[in-house]
Amino acid sequence: MKDLYGRNINYLRISVTDLCNLRCKYCTPRHGISKIKHDEILTFEEIEKITKIFVSLGVNKVRITGGEPLVRKGILSLIKKIGEIKEIKDFAITTNGILLKKYAKDLKQLGVNRVNVSLDTLDPKKYKEITRGGQIHKVFDGIEEARKVGLDPIKINTVLVGGFNDNEIENFVNLTLKDNLEIRFIELMPIGEAKEWDLDKFITNEVVLDKIKELKEIESQDICSPAKYYKLPHAKGKIGLISPITHKFCCNCNRVRLTADGKLKLCLHSNEEIDLKTLLRNGQDIEDIIIKSIQKKPKSHNLENGEYTKRNMMAIGG
Ligand code: 5AD
Ligand code: SF4
Repeated sequence: MKDLYGRNINYLRISVTDLCNLRCKYCTPRHGISKIKHDEILTFEEIEKITKIFVSLGVNKVRITGGEPLVRKGILSLIKKIGEIKEIKDFAITTNGILLKKYAKDLKQLGVNRVNVSLDTLDPKKYKEITRGGQIHKVFDGIEEARKVGLDPIKINTVLVGGFNDNEIENFVNLTLKDNLEIRFIELMPIGEAKEWDLDKFITNEVVLDKIKELKEIESQDICSPAKYYKLPHAKGKIGLISPITHKFCCNCNRVRLTADGKLKLCLHSNEEIDLKTLLRNGQDIEDIIIKSIQKKPKSHNLENGEYTKRNMMAIGG
């Protein structure tokens, strides 16, 4: 599916729940967000139906996100259904890793080929602090299990927060020396709780290159990836820098998002949403609507002019 700007939209990100078993400070208010009513959430049958329509229109890459996708009851039955769609060449999941040890093997068997794990610090105490209570050893165990069962490559998403984890950049980068890991540093975006944060917490990815002079840029295999890649000499893994604030990558954007409550989001940062759930439940032909909607995908985000999404990140899934 091509959009107005010639971008080939072949990637669908599906948020299966807005709930999470952590409360990361930049993402969630202390007392959580008000829960969406159960019948407002897409059923697995609806998600499967919508996914198949997207696939028939050319989507061949699907990612399951949340909140935390592994807390949705019965998630493996949805994974199985999507894993059975032959046209999907890349089937991934983004998780905080807390439940990954339990699920890794089944995910792999049901057709998921890789995982991204969110991890903002390597220090157990700091992990507890930023996630408001999370136990880091569960994440490490989950990563280990994912590696064992052959979910590959494992990517670690690390949101850089000034004064919190910028002193750990070297430790994260060094993880790539012995392991075939991809560490992706993400610039903090003014979404959710972070919208209210002081400016000194927003640091640019340039910090990584300033601190680690040995990093050399390498070519990306996927021009649609928002990350620029780097490597330490002789390292097994690599470093990705995702810089939505300092380097717009919208011109290569190949993705759209389906929220847990059934809205199609054409851009992470835009408030325009198409209510596929209601249309579907009213028995309308959503294929046509999807085709038309794709033509409305914005050329780029407009963060620099203060145009932010009203949704919390938990309700979008990154
Ligand atoms: N800025 C940047 N990244 C964020 N994430 C959540 N909130 C923000 C934010 N405000 C990240 C999570 C996770 C991914 C889905 O999005 O850490 O890795
Ligand atoms: Fe949960 Fe991810 Fe938000 Fe943390 S960032 S609270 S893991 S949804």
